[in-house]
Amino acid sequence: MLRTSVLLSSLVFSLAVPALAQQSTDAVNPEAEAPTLSASGDEAVQAALDAKSAGQAVEGERWMVSAANPLAVQAGARVLSKGGTAADAMVAVQAVLGLVEPQSSGLGGGAFLVWYDGASGDVTTIDGRETAPLDATPRLFQTSEGEPLKFFDAVVGGRSVGVPGTPALMEMAHTKWGRADWAGLFSEAISHADEGFTVSPRLAALVEGDAERLSRFAPTKDYFLPGGSAIVAGDTLANPAYGDTLRAMASRGADAFYTGSVAEGIVATVRTAAGNPGVMSMLDLALYQAKERAPVCVEYRAHEVCGMGPPSSGALTVGQILGMLDGYDLASMGPDSADAWRLIGDASRLAFADRGRYMADSDFVPMPTEGLVAPDYLATRAEQLQGDTALTDIAPGTPEWDHAQLWADDASIEFPSTSHISIYDVYGNALSMTTTIENGFGSRLMAPGGFLLNNELTDFSFRSHRDGVPIANRVEPGKRPRSSMAPTIVLQDGAPVLVVGSPGGSRIIGYVAKTIIAHLDWGMDVQSAIEMPHLVNRFGTYDLEEGTSAADLETALTEMGFKTNQRGLTSGLHAISITGEGLLGGADPRREGIALGGQ
Ligand code: GLY
Repeated sequence: MLRTSVLLSSLVFSLAVPALAQQSTDAVNPEAEAPTLSASGDEAVQAALDAKSAGQAVEGERWMVSAANPLAVQAGARVLSKGGTAADAMVAVQAVLGLVEPQSSGLGGGAFLVWYDGASGDVTTIDGRETAPLDATPRLFQTSEGEPLKFFDAVVGGRSVGVPGTPALMEMAHTKWGRADWAGLFSEAISHADEGFTVSPRLAALVEGDAERLSRFAPTKDYFLPGGSAIVAGDTLANPAYGDTLRAMASRGADAFYTGSVAEGIVATVRTAAGNPGVMSMLDLALYQAKERAPVCVEYRAHEVCGMGPPSSGALTVGQILGMLDGYDLASMGPDSADAWRLIGDASRLAFADRGRYMADSDFVPMPTEGLVAPDYLATRAEQLQGDTALTDIAPGTPEWDHAQLWADDASIEFPSTSHISIYDVYGNALSMTTTIENGFGSRLMAPGGFLLNNELTDFSFRSHRDGVPIANRVEPGKRPRSSMAPTIVLQDGAPVLVVGSPGGSRIIGYVAKTIIAHLDWGMDVQSAIEMPHLVNRFGTYDLEEGTSAADLETALTEMGFKTNQRGLTSGLHAISITGEGLLGGADPRREGIALGGQ
């Protein structure tokens, strides 16, 4: 399964990035005219697309960006090639993604960011998760009889919209780690918004598939189905309102989003959503804050796997899976071994049992965060994996905890959408950020500012209690819904070796764990590790990626006692590996992204 990488540096102009010792903020000028042929130019994009089709990773010497859309990746590449940091590039990438991949992420959503600092060697994270409005109650997603709403009855409209966090996260990351002028980072997204961008096949197909829901609200319909007909691939689509919002943020920062006319537009849209209004207020927006949090790190194969802790379950669940597998020799079993997948599948089921019981926003509910990934605890849980058949009894464990608290298992439904950005810059910083508006097209509400509003609150448990016992991930005012997003940076001897993450709802956890295992245990390069067929087990049924060699394992897994199901598994993995020889970037062939790298 190993594949070679492709060097784009024949297309790379030597740009004015100074040697590390001479770097200063003066060197960063994202407004400088781009060279006609560069690591971010159209030739490089075509070469990156060709590399992806051929199953090859992209090489870069000193910087790399991998994300879900070529226009967004180009914007990030231009910033990096002129000496911008990974945080600068992220702002440019996110601003373009919100325009060209509006179904997955944007200003109206939330994100988690993991940062490795090249200067200090520290790893930290930013939580830009949406929050529940202060008027939300634990019964937000229940009928008057206390029964959970049907999923899409909850999603579509204002009720599901959490206070967005992405603009605050962008600003916090730039303030902490940016070198480029903030305003200039929006210029590429603004010109695409004003002049129009080419609608991609994926966006067009998703609009067509969701036409009925998108048509329920006039502003959303007018944008995605102008005159009643869905936009099609190849159309030029402009979004001047989004351009105006970006201009306001460029000149006034995130305040321009959380106060004033943009915020008023959000509140009015949420509160007047026909049939399903929400309760968000101007106060909710004004109070929003991104939060810096310590990462959650777990040892695996003499590496440190670091990611996003609560309110995400991502790093804890990926960490539990890897921690349980650390004592098993997956390398000698190989990627085609049913026994390797028995171990991975059951480690995942055990981890998901703990996730459903214990994981939520730890600012609101006590959580055994350290206990859940303590090596002794995971070693005890891993003893259950001995044997040669699937586990029949999966239950949450009892991690060490200095708190007496009884939680009931939750009931949340998560559908795949979301987007992932991986970046490495010339200063040795690494950034892994997963960004979302939750369901495809979120709440389907388009704010007057030209962006879709999230439905992130449906990541809370719809039930608040079970048999009188409270559920940790129930709705509470000001709380952040539990996420599965797992932006990850893997370190060896304190230095980053892999930056990775994916969209995919709660399957994100399986996609990320598999990619790390494929890279570290099975020696696959980053593109091969991404491409490798998925086998994902969350709650019992083993999902096997249809039309791939994963199906070859179906008989053996069934004989072991697993229930199996062949289905599409549309991850959107974007990853960078950092080696002694340089950088390799990978982009998921299941979506439209690319990696671009340069010197
Ligand atoms: N809504 C996707 C996640 O946060 O996991």
